[in-house]
Amino acid sequence: MRISSNKILITGGATGIGLGLTERFLKEGNTVIICGRRESVLKEVSEKHPSIITKKCDLSIEGEREALFQWILAEHSNLNVLINNAGIQQWMSISDNDFTKRAKDEISVNIEAPVHLTSLFINLKSLNTIINVTSGLALVPMIKVAVYSATKAFFHSFTLSLRQLLKARNIEVIEIIPPAINTDLGGKGIHDSAPPVSDFIEAVFEQIKQGKAEITFGFTDSISKAGPEDLQKTFNRMNGIN
Ligand SMILES: NC(=O)c1ccc[n+]([C@@H]2O[C@H](COP(=O)([O-])OP(=O)(O)OC[C@H]3O[C@@H](n4cnc5c(N)ncnc54)[C@H](OP(=O)(O)O)[C@@H]3O)[C@@H](O)[C@H]2O)c1
Repeated sequence: MRISSNKILITGGATGIGLGLTERFLKEGNTVIICGRRESVLKEVSEKHPSIITKKCDLSIEGEREALFQWILAEHSNLNVLINNAGIQQWMSISDNDFTKRAKDEISVNIEAPVHLTSLFINLKSLNTIINVTSGLALVPMIKVAVYSATKAFFHSFTLSLRQLLKARNIEVIEIIPPAINTDLGGKGIHDSAPPVSDFIEAVFEQIKQGKAEITFGFTDSISKAGPEDLQKTFNRMNGIN
C-alpha cells in the first residue's frame, strides 16, 4: 500500500495499537477516521490531533455497523483503507457463570464485526486496502484466553482467504500479527511487561513500506515460521504444560 494520501478508517483507533497506527498514519500525511464506543476517549484524541475525524460506534451491534458504513458512504465515499483493529480479550474459565455471555461478546467484536464491515466496505469504489489486526494467539492459543485465541485463529484464517477473494477487485489485504504489546487489552496492567506500542508501530511501518502482506514482530516473527513440533512446544511452554 502507499504510505501517504490515503483516507483510512481505523476501528478502535483511539487507544493502544490503534492509536499507534492513527498517530503514525497522520504523521505520514493521511486523513484518519477513528471509531470506538467511548466518546470521552475519542474526544481526547481529537483534542490532541484536531485533523482526526471521530465517530462513536459500538461494533458489536449490527445496526451500528450498518450506520457507520452509511455515514462513510455519505460523508467519506473516497475512503480507500479499512483497518479492522478493534478487539476485546476476556480472561475467563469455561466454568464461570458468565462464560457464554462473555464468549459471545468476544465473537461479536473480534469476528462478526470485521467480517460484516469487510462485506460492507468492499462496496466502496475507492477501497484498495484492508488491514486486519489478528494476534500471535491465532497461531498458538493461550488457555486462559481460549475464546479470544480462537476468534483470532478464525480471523487469521479468514484473512488468508480474503486476500485471494479480493485479488480480482484489486483490494490488497494485509495482516498485522502482533505479539503481546503494552496496551490495556484484557484490562489495565495485564500487558504491562510487554514491548511498547511505539517499537511495534516502527516495525509495522517498516514492513508496510517493504510491501509485506503479513506483518510480524518479535515472538510472532518466529512463531509464524515454526513447524508443528515447535508450535506444540511453544503451546506447552506458554500454558505451563509439562
Ligand atoms: N496488545 C496486545 O498484546 C495484542 C496482541 C495481539 C493482538 N492484539 C490486537 O490488537 C487490537 C488492538 O488492541 P489493543 O491491544 O490496542 O487494545 P485496546 O487498547 O484495548 O484497543 C481496543 C480498541 O477496540 C475498541 N473496541 C472494543 N470493543 C469495541 C466495540 N464493541 N465497538 C467499537 N470499538 C471497540 C476499543 O475502544 P472502546 O473501548 O472505546 O470501544 C479500543 O479502542 C485488537 O484486535 C487486539 O486483539 C493486541
